[in-house]
Amino acid sequence: MTLTSVLLVLMQVCSLQLMLVAMPTCPLEGDLVQSVHHLLRDLGGPFPVHCLPYNANISFPSSALPAATANHAECRQVLWVVYESLQEAGPMFDDEELPAGVTWERKKVQKFRMEQDRLGEEGSCLSGVGSSGVLAPYFSNVTAVLQQQDSAACGLMALRKDLLSVLESALHHHRNCFTWRNTTEDTRPRLLRKRSHAH
Ligand SMILES: *[C@@H]1O[C@H](CO)[C@@H](O)[C@H](O)[C@H]1NC(C)=O
Ligand SMILES: *[C@@H]1O[C@H](CO)[C@@H](O)[C@H](O)[C@H]1NC(C)=O
Ligand SMILES: *[C@@H]1O[C@H](CO)[C@@H](O)[C@H](O)[C@H]1NC(C)=O
Repeated sequence: MTLTSVLLVLMQVCSLQLMLVAMPTCPLEGDLVQSVHHLLRDLGGPFPVHCLPYNANISFPSSALPAATANHAECRQVLWVVYESLQEAGPMFDDEELPAGVTWERKKVQKFRMEQDRLGEEGSCLSGVGSSGVLAPYFSNVTAVLQQQDSAACGLMALRKDLLSVLESALHHHRNCFTWRNTTEDTRPRLLRKRSHAH
């Protein structure tokens, strides 16, 4: 290797590092999250009353989502909770093995799964951002209820209800943590926008 080529390689390594430093922290598209929410919502009707007892065993840890998102760390936590919950829950919505008693259209379940997969790919840089211990007890309870034949349907209903409320809460209360395709309305930095909305 000549000295010039060594220098060229060094320069490339340095500019790559500069690019990495300048890259924005892992974003997540709000439009995609919204679309996943709508597909999940449109699967079926309201939470069945006879499934209410299962809420005792399936209660999403509300503390996982920060109450306010005043800074980037809190926004990262919101995005991670959205990403991680959908990653954990997605495979539980298997259109070929829906529990008896769940009458959702297979096509709709497939559509939800496809969109959820897309979100999983787009948000893959979020994996590992949060601590898995926050959601693990919840999902192990969900798994336990899903594994019992007579409770599986209610377990899936409860999981869907919880996911919907997590997505709604994130989209409504932490809207500015997401990136939105349509940015023509407001081009100010996200944190500034957030502050003026709070008034
Ligand atoms: C909730 O979990 C407890 C302990 O694992 C179990 O005994 C109980 O049957 C469960 N209740 C329901 C409604 O699944
Ligand atoms: C898990 O189930 C137990 C009962 O078996 C319940 O006491 C606990 O609150 C549940 N935890 C979550 C996070 O749902
Ligand atoms: C973007 O916003 C403008 C004005 O609010 C609206 O007219 C337009 O339909 C939006 N475009 C998309 C793709 O949402």
